[in-house]
Amino acid sequence: MTSIDFVVDRNNLHQCKVIETPLPDPAALPAQALLVKVTRFAFTANNITYAVLGDHLKYWQLFPAPAWFGNVPVWGLGEVIASKHPGIATGETLFGYFPMATYLVIEADDVSKRGLRDAAAHRQGVAPVYNAYSRVSGDPAFAGRQGDYQALLRPLFMLSFLVDDFLAENDFFGAKVAMLSSASSKTAYGLAHLLHARNNGIKVIGLTSAGNTSFVTSLGCYDEVVTYDSVTALPANSPVAYVDMAGNTPLRATLHGHFGEQMKYSGIIGLTHRKSSPDDPAQALPGAKPQFFFAPDQIRKRTGELGPAGFNERFVAAWSGFVPNLDRWMKVIEHRGPASVQRAYLDTLNGRVPPDQGLILSLSE
Ligand SMILES: NC(=O)c1ccc[n+]([C@@H]2O[C@H](COP(=O)([O-])OP(=O)(O)OC[C@H]3O[C@@H](n4cnc5c(N)ncnc54)[C@H](OP(=O)(O)O)[C@@H]3O)[C@@H](O)[C@H]2O)c1
Repeated sequence: MTSIDFVVDRNNLHQCKVIETPLPDPAALPAQALLVKVTRFAFTANNITYAVLGDHLKYWQLFPAPAWFGNVPVWGLGEVIASKHPGIATGETLFGYFPMATYLVIEADDVSKRGLRDAAAHRQGVAPVYNAYSRVSGDPAFAGRQGDYQALLRPLFMLSFLVDDFLAENDFFGAKVAMLSSASSKTAYGLAHLLHARNNGIKVIGLTSAGNTSFVTSLGCYDEVVTYDSVTALPANSPVAYVDMAGNTPLRATLHGHFGEQMKYSGIIGLTHRKSSPDDPAQALPGAKPQFFFAPDQIRKRTGELGPAGFNERFVAAWSGFVPNLDRWMKVIEHRGPASVQRAYLDTLNGRVPPDQGLILSLSE
């Protein structure tokens, strides 16, 4: 029996390949270890960001790959097929961070009724969320299509939730308009949904490419949709908070130049366009200084203020209000097998996945 891994060249993400390694012998697993079959995982532009920032944010160290290659982390579901941990039975379903692979060995630790942690030495030194697995067997919120929604959107919606909460906490920095780039992305429309639901007079503007305009308009959570080449036609007399999912430095410079001192907040979140230049002369831009929005800091701050239960309660309430839209907003598209996974990866890398699709992949045929 073999295990299949999909790996990418760290220095040229367009180069990728499948490698086969012998499947670990279940009988020879160390004490407490689990052999998990990776059954299905989501793939979006966010996973490409993990690859782009692989060295910088240590994503490459989580799932080892041959020299110069990396295994892109993905959110998904796995089934325990062998267990050397007395508290974990074979057949259990886990939700969490997996490699693009058919199998993963987890060194189970801190096992509780709700979850466990992978204590493998090479996985330490990253944010705890990346090593935590939820035990979700029998949980209807993780079964079937609901499980796909969790894999596709829960990690992204956490960011949407945090930014909405952060803007509200700061009284929108005095802005009357919230403007989101890559408005067609799942992270952006999760945020637009929350901002729209506040119904507090803040206008929500989505910036997108011409080809994605009708999709973004159809969502109904943006008050106005504007293509990238028309942003300078927007009236510049209202204070604006800009939330950048595109990571497009020239676009940011154009917006700051256009809105000037009316740019009250400029948050850097994503890099779907991968057009961020390291020599961004951010200091020189008019208006608020662009700043990175660092989710773990905001989580720490808000769990400190609200308590873990209070924070979780708010997140769950927001998620429950969001999920019912997904049947209308997203078609889940499944691809199985190495060739299909490779195609889906390259399509995502090259921005060829229609925004109304949510890709769920498996390397097993
Ligand atoms: N900082 C954090 O903690 C955090 C958390 C979650 C997400 N994010 C970031 O938010 C961004 C959105 O992620 P997502 O998973 O929600 O994205 P997604 O749903 O896969 O977004 C797809 C959209 O991104 C744009 N896009 C994707 N690839 C492109 C390419 N090669 N060229 C040009 N445009 C491209 C297009 O939008 P337009 O045509 O509308 O531009 C496309 O419709 C990512 O950069 C992600 O890393 C950051």
